[in-house]
Amino acid sequence: MTTFIAVLYIISFALFIYGLMGLTGPRTAVRGNWIAAVGMGIAVIATLLTPGMSNWLLIALGVAIGVVVGVPSARKVKMTAMPQMVALFNGVGGGAVALIAWVEFRTTEGYAHEPAYVAIASLFAAIVGSVSFWGSNIAFGKLQELISGRPITLGKLQQPVNALVLIAAIVFAVVIATGGDAELLMIGLLVAAGVLGVVVVLPIGGADMPVVISLLNALTGLSAAAMGLALDNTALIVAGMIVGASGSILTNLMAKAMNRSIPAIVAGGFGGGTAVASGGSGEVRPVRSTSASDTAIQMAYANKVVVVPGYGMAVAQAQHVVREMAKLLEAKGITVAYAIHPVAGRMPGHMNVLLAEADVPYEQLKEMDEINSEFAQTDVALVIGANDVTNPAAETDPGSPIYGMPILKVNHSRSVIVLKRSMSSGFAGIDNELFYDAKTSMLFGDAKSSVGEIVEELKAL
Ligand code: TAP
Repeated sequence: MTTFIAVLYIISFALFIYGLMGLTGPRTAVRGNWIAAVGMGIAVIATLLTPGMSNWLLIALGVAIGVVVGVPSARKVKMTAMPQMVALFNGVGGGAVALIAWVEFRTTEGYAHEPAYVAIASLFAAIVGSVSFWGSNIAFGKLQELISGRPITLGKLQQPVNALVLIAAIVFAVVIATGGDAELLMIGLLVAAGVLGVVVVLPIGGADMPVVISLLNALTGLSAAAMGLALDNTALIVAGMIVGASGSILTNLMAKAMNRSIPAIVAGGFGGGTAVASGGSGEVRPVRSTSASDTAIQMAYANKVVVVPGYGMAVAQAQHVVREMAKLLEAKGITVAYAIHPVAGRMPGHMNVLLAEADVPYEQLKEMDEINSEFAQTDVALVIGANDVTNPAAETDPGSPIYGMPILKVNHSRSVIVLKRSMSSGFAGIDNELFYDAKTSMLFGDAKSSVGEIVEELKAL
């Protein structure tokens, strides 16, 4: 049986890696996801075959609850709510690891009789799993707007409080590792780590949440791998390390795309604002507004139109009507491309997924570096619900919170039309100079309705 279980585990690892390969492109992503899910199914079956497994009723109940809660919520979730769903599911993973460490502590009556590596790995898993569970729940609450997306800080007390709860968790761990077997010690450790998760995530602004979720995801993976080490379970070690490694890579990529360091993100205080653009001094600055009919005419006489999608396109679910508009323009011989900023929207690949959903040919999606050199030859840049990722302040204003973030240089185009509902800021909570540029016109309204009207006008031309 042991060999059979080992073989099943090896098959599941191969499927995880093969599935991950599929996630490298939108065309193969769904298949990759299925392959990895089958791998996980096999790993679960292999684990259940382990000799000595009992409590079948409880296991079946757990699986049933997981299926009943997980499947419908994953099916129904809106694309824009994906980050909070990932936060929730990730948190559950961290919480499970922390609970396993607690159960092991009870089963072996403390770690005094266990080898040192088991004690260290289990205590590490308990701390990191608890941080991840509570931190992820706060991230979920912020993104779901159950808690304010603005940074919530303790002011000057923030750093001392963070340090105090971290030290408390470590002290509990040291006492347990050196022979302490009172259950209250383990509960104290889990509570201190949980408070740490809460106080670290609360001061971080909503705009940084996807990066934080990815970071917590990496932590959950590491804690699962540590628990696998303690339990001598290879599947947990491998799956945990894959999550830990891919989560760390993703966190780094996102931080790089925003030109921010991970410590700066964790230090918090950025974004989450809803300030109305007004030039910062309260005065209302004039902008030029346009109509759907003028926009249609302007684009119909263009050679090249670049669509710049952002979070607002996702909110409006305008991707299908955008594709319809592009087809009409192409039928008139106009070249259409889509400019994709790596952190447009609220999760990595957000725009790619939406546009793939609307069957936009993949070749038309241009990465930031490629499209930036093409804006100078672009007649109309149609900015659909994008804001921060087009903000020239990132290049020109050293005082701006997004200074240094690479942007889509739409202001290099011959003309810019921005589709959004109002002059409200994007997630970074700052004004956008682009809106006041002489060659920019604003088409106010919900993106789906506005593009729908443009489509009707184009048809009538
Ligand atoms: P944002 O800067 O957040 O701007 C989105 C704009 O969409 C808003 O200004 C909003 O203006 C508009 N909007 C909302 N609903 C709309 C609707 N129904 N119709 C039309 N417009 C609508 O978006 P972005 O340019 O995509 O930038 C993404 C931001 O998220 C960046 O700050 C980025 O750093 C941050 N972020 C992203 C990620 C990832 S991985 N994507 C990770 C971390 C942080 P109105 O309210 O006036 O309509």
